[in-house]
Parts: sequence; C-alpha cells; structure tokens
Amino acid sequence: SDDELEARILSAKAKLGDRVVILGHFYQRDEVVQFADFVGDSFQLANAAKTRTEAEAIVFCGVHFMAETADMLSGSHQSVILPNLAAGCSMADMADLPSVEACWAELEALYGTEPDADGRVPVIPVTYMNSSAALKAFCGKHGGIVCTSSNASTVLEWAFERGQRVLFFPDQHLGRNTAKAMGVPLEQMPLWNPRMPLGGNTQEVMDAAKVVLWQGFCSVHKRFTVGQIEQARVDFPGVRVIVHPECPMEVVDAADEAGSTDYILKAIQAAPDGTTFAIGTEINMVNRLAAQYPQHTIFCLDPVICPCSTMYRIHPGYLAWVLEGLLRGEVLNQITVPEDTAVNARIALERMLAALP
Ligand code: 13P
Ligand code: SF4
Repeated sequence: SDDELEARILSAKAKLGDRVVILGHFYQRDEVVQFADFVGDSFQLANAAKTRTEAEAIVFCGVHFMAETADMLSGSHQSVILPNLAAGCSMADMADLPSVEACWAELEALYGTEPDADGRVPVIPVTYMNSSAALKAFCGKHGGIVCTSSNASTVLEWAFERGQRVLFFPDQHLGRNTAKAMGVPLEQMPLWNPRMPLGGNTQEVMDAAKVVLWQGFCSVHKRFTVGQIEQARVDFPGVRVIVHPECPMEVVDAADEAGSTDYILKAIQAAPDGTTFAIGTEINMVNRLAAQYPQHTIFCLDPVICPCSTMYRIHPGYLAWVLEGLLRGEVLNQITVPEDTAVNARIALERMLAALP
C-alpha cells in the first residue's frame, strides 16, 4: 500500500543518512517529491549533483539525461541511480549521434571549416540539456556548448560571439523562441530534416541561415495552444499567462511570459497576493504550485491532463527498491557515462557554467 511504501522509504532514508542524497525534478509526482532532499529545474539539479559531494549515492528522481549529467558532474566516489531505467525523455531521443554527425558533415561541406575575418567559426553546435551524453560530448569536441531553458539566450550569445551560425538540437521550439527573442528573423532559422539533403532546405535558405534547428519537440509542451490562452483570458480577465519555452512559438507569442520551470516558480513567489496564473507546463508541477501558493489562483492551460509520462515512471515503489538496495550494499540502476564520452561532454557543460553571469 502507499502507506507501507512511504514507511519503507522513510526508514531506508533514515538508516542511510548522509550516505544518500535524493534529487527531484519539479515534474516529479508529489508522492516522490516529498522524499527529495532538493527539488529544482534541470540546471539546479545538475549543480546540486556537482556540489553534494558528501553522499556516496545520488538517487536521481528525474529522467535519464539528467541522471547522465549528474554522473558526469558528480565526484568519482559517487554513484548516480535512476530509480526506473525506463524514465527517458522522448525529446532527447529525437536526436541521436549518427544523425547529428551526418548533419554536421553536410554543414561542413556547405560552410567549410575556416573561421571568418573576426575569428568566428562557420558553425557552433548547441545542445539542449535534454539530450544524451553522447551529444553533449559531440558539442564538447566541436567547440560547442550545452544550454538549459533557464540560460538559453546567454548561451546563444556566447555561441554568436564565436560562430557565424548555430546548429541547435534537439528542441526546435526552445531554439526558435530564444533566437527570435534575440532578434533573429524566422527566415534565418531553417528546420533540419535529417532524412533529406540540405535538411530539406534550398541552398539560398541555408546560405542565409543563422540558427539551424533540429526537428525535435516535447510531446507535453506541444499540446499547449493559442486557443487555450484565449479561453483563459476570456474566463479570467487579467490572468497572467506563463509558458515554458518548449511550447510552440505561437503559444509563447500569445503568452505574457515564457521561462523555465524555476522562472515560473519565482514569478509566482514574487507576485502580489490574489494573482491569477495560467501556466503552460507539466501538470504535476502546476498542481503542486496551486497547492503551495493558495494566495493565488493557479491553473494549467491544458484542461485535459498533461503529465510527462516518462517523469511519471519514477514511482515510490522504485524509490523504495533502490534505497533498500543501498542498505544491502547493492547499487541498483546505476547510470554510468563512459569516461571517453564524459570527458568531452564535461567540456560543453563547463562552457555553459563559465558563460553564465
Ligand atoms: P527545466 O530545465 O525548466 O527544468 O525543464 C526541463 C524539462 O524537461 C522541461 O520539459
Ligand atoms: Fe522530456 Fe518533455 Fe518530459 Fe521534459 S516534459 S522530460 S522535455 S518529454
């Protein structure tokens, strides 16, 4: 039963003490978040993995790419555990190394490899945190960088200082929304279809490209629509609409603000009592915010439920199982990035950390 599981988790956690730290992403269900020592967005969790050096095990309640990042940033004496190995990210799975390498080869053929008079290389690869360690390593190897939704514009500025254009993967929406807000015209942001020559674009379009966008998307955030925002404005005049930048461009344009999960949290915390918020992000987070900040009216833009099905795969039963494994001296579901990949991926991650103010 739920009570039994809760008691088992609490007991294992108490016995393990400082030997374990449990990290939880904002999108985790409440039944899991209640046990987390630290809850945050993907950037904050990566930092937590880097700084929580006292624990021998980091139990990561999130998805696979986050656990990989935690493994690469944490100490060599620490093991990172993903309670359910099936907790992946469908967006991260939309870009694999062979397809990105094939795209890169085409871009090199198109633009060459020589820097321009200002020393800017033809293309800088930028990968969203929501990607495999192999793609982060690709960026590390080719002068590129990682970004999260909380720092994408700072990272793109870094890239434009060093490159004539950017290849952005896997999330087309974060790439488009961020570059558009920085003033890049839409016609300079071609989508890259890995199954077609020139990504399905004409030579003229590729000649003018500033940001080449991979065709990935988040299946949760693509559900939000302009119609939902219009309806919220009719039902709640004065409503403040905040959406995650993984939403399609029209939705971000129709919203009042767009920002990462931590941005959304901070906006709610800073608002005067009695504010009404319509939020375009994952339902577990929105429902928790509504419960934690009863002085406001907070609801999800999507009236039909929109959980991230892979985040949801971290069930308390798996958490109990891995914690009890640690008590027996067994490290279950460990996530280990091979060192030859991790070396290059860390370069791209460290570039992100160094680029931030
Ligand atoms: P954040 O970086 O805002 O935590 O988002 C991660 C994510 O997976 C959003 O879908
Ligand atoms: Fe991936 Fe979307 Fe889930 Fe985030 S919400 S983990 S991008 S599928």
